[in-house]
Amino acid sequence: MTFIGHKREGLKMFKLYGAHILCLLLLLQQVDCQANDKVQIDGPLENKDFFVKEGSQGGMMLYRFIFQPPVVSLRLTGDTDGIIEIVSDGVLYLNKALDWETKKVHKLQLEGLNASGQKVQGPYFINIYVEDINDNPPTFEKNNYTGTVRQNSRPGKPFMYIKAIDLDDPNTLNGQLSYRLRNHFPNPFQEMLFQVDNVTGAISTTKAGHQYLDPAQEREYVLDVEVYDMAGQSINAFSASTDVRVTVLENLWKSPGLVKIKENSTEPHPISIAQVQWNYPGAYYEISSKETPSVKLPFMVDNNGTIYVTEPLDREKKESYSFYVYAKEEGISLSYPVTVNVTVEDINDNPPVCNKALTKFEVQENEVAGNYIGTFQASDADKEGTINSRLHYDIVYQNPKIPVDKLFRIDFGTGNINILQSALNRQEASNYSLKVEVTDQVFKTVCDVLINVIDINDQIPIFEKSDYGDVTLPEDRRVGTVILEIQATDGDEPFTGSSQIIYTVTNGDPNNTFSIRTDPKTNRGYVTINKVLDFETTPMYYLDIGATNPEPLVLGTQYNSSSFTKLRVAVTDVDEVPVFLQKTYTVEMLENVTFGTFVMKARAYDPEGAQIKYSLKNNNRNWLRIDPLSGSIYTAALMDRETESPYVVQIVATEQTRASKSSMAQLTLNLKDVNDNPPQLEKDSVFFCHPLQGNQKAKIDVHDPDIYSYIPKFSYVLLGDNTVQNNWNVSKDGLHAYISPKNINLEEKDYDIPIKINDNGRPPMEGVVYLKVKVCRCVEGRCFIPTDPSPFPTVATAIGILVAVLIVIGVILGIVFLRLKRKSQSQQISTKANPASPAELQSLT
Ligand SMILES: *[C@@H]1O[C@H](CO)[C@@H](O)[C@H](O)[C@H]1NC(C)=O
Ligand SMILES: *[C@@H]1O[C@H](CO)[C@@H](O)[C@H](O)[C@H]1NC(C)=O
Ligand SMILES: *[C@@H]1O[C@H](CO)[C@@H](O)[C@H](O)[C@H]1NC(C)=O
Ligand SMILES: *[C@@H]1O[C@H](CO)[C@@H](O)[C@H](O)[C@H]1NC(C)=O
Ligand SMILES: *[C@@H]1O[C@H](CO)[C@@H](O)[C@H](O)[C@H]1NC(C)=O
Ligand SMILES: *[C@@H]1O[C@H](CO)[C@@H](O)[C@H](O)[C@H]1NC(C)=O
Ligand SMILES: *[C@@H]1O[C@H](CO)[C@@H](O)[C@H](O)[C@H]1NC(C)=O
Ligand SMILES: *[C@@H]1O[C@H](CO)[C@@H](O)[C@H](O)[C@H]1NC(C)=O
Ligand SMILES: *[C@@H]1O[C@H](CO)[C@@H](O)[C@H](O)[C@H]1NC(C)=O
Ligand SMILES: *[C@@H]1O[C@H](CO)[C@@H](O)[C@H](O)[C@H]1NC(C)=O
Ligand SMILES: *[C@@H]1O[C@H](CO)[C@@H](O)[C@H](O)[C@H]1NC(C)=O
Repeated sequence: MTFIGHKREGLKMFKLYGAHILCLLLLLQQVDCQANDKVQIDGPLENKDFFVKEGSQGGMMLYRFIFQPPVVSLRLTGDTDGIIEIVSDGVLYLNKALDWETKKVHKLQLEGLNASGQKVQGPYFINIYVEDINDNPPTFEKNNYTGTVRQNSRPGKPFMYIKAIDLDDPNTLNGQLSYRLRNHFPNPFQEMLFQVDNVTGAISTTKAGHQYLDPAQEREYVLDVEVYDMAGQSINAFSASTDVRVTVLENLWKSPGLVKIKENSTEPHPISIAQVQWNYPGAYYEISSKETPSVKLPFMVDNNGTIYVTEPLDREKKESYSFYVYAKEEGISLSYPVTVNVTVEDINDNPPVCNKALTKFEVQENEVAGNYIGTFQASDADKEGTINSRLHYDIVYQNPKIPVDKLFRIDFGTGNINILQSALNRQEASNYSLKVEVTDQVFKTVCDVLINVIDINDQIPIFEKSDYGDVTLPEDRRVGTVILEIQATDGDEPFTGSSQIIYTVTNGDPNNTFSIRTDPKTNRGYVTINKVLDFETTPMYYLDIGATNPEPLVLGTQYNSSSFTKLRVAVTDVDEVPVFLQKTYTVEMLENVTFGTFVMKARAYDPEGAQIKYSLKNNNRNWLRIDPLSGSIYTAALMDRETESPYVVQIVATEQTRASKSSMAQLTLNLKDVNDNPPQLEKDSVFFCHPLQGNQKAKIDVHDPDIYSYIPKFSYVLLGDNTVQNNWNVSKDGLHAYISPKNINLEEKDYDIPIKINDNGRPPMEGVVYLKVKVCRCVEGRCFIPTDPSPFPTVATAIGILVAVLIVIGVILGIVFLRLKRKSQSQQISTKANPASPAELQSLT
């Protein structure tokens, strides 16, 4: 330790003296002599300035003044402080070290005295400027600090400050302080949770702190904070340290969590459902929908942060809501909004409904007891999979009751209908009308069902051809195209399930590339392309097609090979356009990425294997470029979210050899906000009424195009020369900035006031705005701007005209009066009639 101490001392000594050794070896001192290279250790009596480093040891000669008779001695007066004196032979001498912190300049007068001690020369003014050395360590203003921070508080937002002072010259490195956070305890993560601004001493949370601080885990942290002088840049810097005790408080500004509301509530509305709370009192709250344009929400929030539902909700219309709640002060958002999610819980408020007014089934005359006829189903709008939408079925009525009532049975839970007796007879009853009652615990609905008794199905469909041969198609033939018509016939009763034909591809089409639709009137089948054909995967299809009836065949009858046919479909190649692996791409990027940044890689291939060339379309701002061979997209310019976001371009893939074969995909580039705009004036002029009253102020309306700009954080500096500084004051009062005149004698005119506004974002952006301040005459509190020439008299001219008229009337009256007076002079009437008296005029103005 002592060794290091000595080494430090040595270094310091060298720094202090090294340069000067050459200068004034003789006097072994530190007079600053860099001004002139010539070493001057003596000279005549004259005004003189010296620069001396503080703290050098005493007994030091500074200079020798040479004098001639009649001067025989010198006298030194002024700030000698008992340290500075003139010793024999005119030597200016310091008997002790000077101290910058005590006095920065010693002002002295020097006089030449003659033998009788009378002043004969001078006084000369001698200034000794003391230069600071780093002889004071910084000290914290407090031994220890305590502070509180809210969980989830914004990273970088100071929640407290520490401050140290250093007595050394703040204009030199000696007095410049740099704060550091050495560690904090506990430190459970890889990253630091707190940070200290090295210049301002502001303590804030880091991103990790924003994420991890949690009073439930750890309530208190001790931060080991240091301060260095020499701006922290020298190993010789002094340092001090202090403890900062930080208590983590719960963040009150958070989502109330998922709110559940029963639908169709009959209680009186509004009903309180949840509560939010800003961390400090004084805020009010606003609800806003997440959608743009915003939709009206059935919710509201009061000034206490209580959220209400304002009307009964209907789950069957909208099952969940998600909206924002903002905390505001004077119209300005204090932080990010919190999200409130609401789910509407189902109640059984919807009756079952019949899917059709009349549901029809068919049953063959020979149907035997127990056979399945069909499934009846109704629906219920209440929540699927809950008891509220579970339905029960019952047959409550049958007509005709031939041969018995309750000929059919419906399954209570599934709605499956079966016949209970082998007793159908088309001659006696060709159809049965049933009423099926459907219940969902609460509601009951009755639906109509018709069961037609049809002829037995003892004929099979027979194809007109057993082989339809070949059909040849280009692969780009559209889905939905009918490629062939086929026909089978059935001898059973027309327009029943016994004669109706269903065509199916029974073999050769595993992916359902083809479908066959039946015309119900003619039983004609239309073979249709159901999925895109592709020569490259399947050039040929061998299809087997079968024809069946929806009704089962009677016992003893079977489908045979006459109910089947064959068809071959040959697909031919077409030179197709390139195919993108993805039709749309979405990429998010910070708006400030440097140009040349990789964005994404588009991939397309040509089905015929041709080489592909990529290009961009609608790249209107030239923000992007694409590598024609690889498809990699890079930024090609600096982008700006405020100019355009999302930025949407088309990626074009073209066959190298055939430029006509190309296809497109879309790239949507969402630019994420970076604070890259300085605040601007929302309204560029304000006014004050002339003459000024004092204590007036006008709000400066500002805005910032960036998303995350919080106007309460902005700081304002009044720029401009002394006149501006003396006449105006810009101040901030919590949320807003105001301008006020300091000089109430300002004349009536327009002033352009330059103001620097910093949004204190990350990174901060500042800009200079010019606020036009009008000092003007006012009428009814509004700036009165005389329009000239004006078709209508202004108030002033109107008064002028009135006064002129009054004066004319007055003169006439005066003449009349004089005449009268002259006439009746002898009568001595003492009437005062001076119509233009100042008092009367004043009352008019
Ligand atoms: C000193 O100067 C004063 C005034 O100039 C004069 O009166 C006096 O005689 C001088 N003394 C001598 C010793 O020269
Ligand atoms: C904090 O400093 C004060 C004096 O500034 C002292 O009284 C107190 O004991 C200190 N607390 C701790 C925990 O060091
Ligand atoms: C503060 O930190 C910045 C960046 O880390 C550095 O450039 C600057 O010199 C530091 N200032 C002081 C006074 O320590
Ligand atoms: C807000 O809360 C206060 C105190 O709990 C209460 O007096 C006041 O009525 C409430 N305001 C509203 C709008 O509910
Ligand atoms: C609200 O719901 C959305 C979407 O379901 C979800 O992403 C979000 O985390 C939820 N927010 C809250 C606060 O519950
Ligand atoms: C609310 O419930 C009642 C019966 O409980 C029902 O008649 C009404 O249609 C329901 N309203 C909505 C909107 O579902
Ligand atoms: C049902 O049968 C009745 C009498 O047997 C007959 O009049 C009616 O037309 C039939 N309805 C239908 C839809 O076949
Ligand atoms: C059916 O689809 C699969 C997978 O898409 C494909 O591999 C196969 O070749 C297709 N078969 C036919 C006959 O189209
Ligand atoms: C199929 O059966 C029908 C009668 O049901 C008959 O006319 C026809 O000849 C049979 N076809 C073959 C190939 O046996
Ligand atoms: C873009 O802005 C972010 C956030 O302000 C910053 O961290 C990043 O360094 C910036 N990038 C460039 C290339 O300027
Ligand atoms: C400017 O006005 C503010 C608020 O009225 C006041 O606190 C501040 O001292 C004023 N500044 C100057 C330089 O007058």
